[in-house]
Amino acid sequence: MVKLALAPGVFLWHAYFSPQAQKTLLDDVLARLETAPLYRPLMPKTAKPFSVEESNFGHLGWVSDTAGYRYEPLHPVTGKAWPAIPPALLTLWDDIAQLPPPDCCLLNLYRGAAKMGLHQDRDEKDVEAPVVGVSLGDDGLFRIGGAARSGKTQSVKLASGDVILFGGPARLAYHGIDRIVPGSSRLVPGGGRLSLTLRRVAA
Ligand code: SIN
Ligand code: FE2
Repeated sequence: MVKLALAPGVFLWHAYFSPQAQKTLLDDVLARLETAPLYRPLMPKTAKPFSVEESNFGHLGWVSDTAGYRYEPLHPVTGKAWPAIPPALLTLWDDIAQLPPPDCCLLNLYRGAAKMGLHQDRDEKDVEAPVVGVSLGDDGLFRIGGAARSGKTQSVKLASGDVILFGGPARLAYHGIDRIVPGSSRLVPGGGRLSLTLRRVAA
């Protein structure tokens, strides 16, 4: 497995998951989404819906609404606990992070013009652990910079099966998804890009 260093603390594995492993992981994810359906969170200040749909796996799920960004143990729509993180993702974490396991896996589904503006992941108490992202389905144009919003950024194409990690000096790097390339993959039923972001929330 080739590990590309994109910047200090930022690493990319192209095709970490084979096409067969992507399909197996997707089937596991879709089964878990039956009990934790994707929903559209709201922006805290404007109450505008996100352009992505989201859900979570793990003890804690990242949510956003007019009360702000935070982690919650229950799905905001169903009121049920989030399903467990798929074992294949815990194995991935062990392989590349070698730290106590993540307690959150955030799912984002991007379809059409959905995107994610530049932001930092900083709602976690544990910023020692890295952020690990798995991409499934359509290509996504990921942008990552430094810990200052105004800093220089680079654009990276994330394809289905790719894994990105940012940690250490890049743990608080600004990042986002400029756009996806609709129709570039046939993996996700109905099209689009599904990202699975693993984080350790509790210190
Ligand atoms: C995120 O930063 O929450 C998601 C990034 C991605 O979709 O790859
Ligand atoms: Fe993020």
